[in-house]
Amino acid sequence: MTGQGQAGPDAAARPGTAKPPEQTVYLNGEFMPLSEARVPVLDRGFVFGDGVYEVVPVYRGVPFRWSQHLSRLARSLAKVRIDNPLDDAGWTGLVAELLSRHPWQDQFVYLQVTRGVARRDHLFPADVQPTVFAMSNEFKPVLRQAIEQGIAAVSLPDERWLHCDIKSISLLGNVLARQAAADAGAMECLLFRDGYLTEGSASNIWVVKDGRLLAPPRDALILEGIRYGLLEELAGSRGVPFDIRRISRDEVMGADELMATSATKEILPITLLDGRAVGDGPGPIYRKLFDAYQDAKVASAAKGWVRP
Ligand code: PDD
Repeated sequence: MTGQGQAGPDAAARPGTAKPPEQTVYLNGEFMPLSEARVPVLDRGFVFGDGVYEVVPVYRGVPFRWSQHLSRLARSLAKVRIDNPLDDAGWTGLVAELLSRHPWQDQFVYLQVTRGVARRDHLFPADVQPTVFAMSNEFKPVLRQAIEQGIAAVSLPDERWLHCDIKSISLLGNVLARQAAADAGAMECLLFRDGYLTEGSASNIWVVKDGRLLAPPRDALILEGIRYGLLEELAGSRGVPFDIRRISRDEVMGADELMATSATKEILPITLLDGRAVGDGPGPIYRKLFDAYQDAKVASAAKGWVRP
């Protein structure tokens, strides 16, 4: 069976089903077809999960919140003590070239840096070049059904490490949580540590109670999404009262609205939690922030790419 959206081996033989042109990726200074990109098995990303990454949405050719993504990448690299292999202009040039090699107006770019290739030893190797990988995919519009009806989530214990602020490629805890959610028929999970909400497996989570938008603190227990700062700004500009504080499990269970944000989900309402309805479908604060998010995308694309 072939994967969804992929052409099968005999696709070229069927009329009207010609294979789409192959994706181009960037690896260590070169652009090449995805099928030709190779990383040695002793890459520390493969052996130890020793690296960091970014996912950047691009609308009408303009990376959305680019400078914020660049800063977070630099922060993640510094926290794991990998020298940033490129400066801001270098990253910008790389992404501009990658985008230009694909036909899609809206894309999402994946950037990954690992510590590099070395004999297996937990200690940092000396004199090793980081491995730099980048790819881009088409950003298909977020499903209308998810926006209009919301998504299901389940609550789970947060069993990850204590440096979730680093956008690390070591994502086993997130992967297991996401799969557990899918096994329970849900699209996302809400993770709780010591009785308090942290985040989702691949999104930040937002709670609405009595007209106020609540978010868990920006600490090492969550990844501060690029959409975290954005929602804070949008709440401010649209007059939604916003508090950052610890949010107990009881408060989450009694929320008027819940929502999730990420580069690829944008902003989605959570309308079912552990099989129980949350509020009465997507709520008024969700709709306000959704509209504000769409306006911010349009404004960013209209302004163009302000390159560092
Ligand atoms: N994940 N928290 C976690 C654990 C995440 O993995 C993500 C995003 C976020 C939201 O961050 P942002 O707003 O910058 O996308 C929060 C990406 C999309 C991923 O791993 O594919």
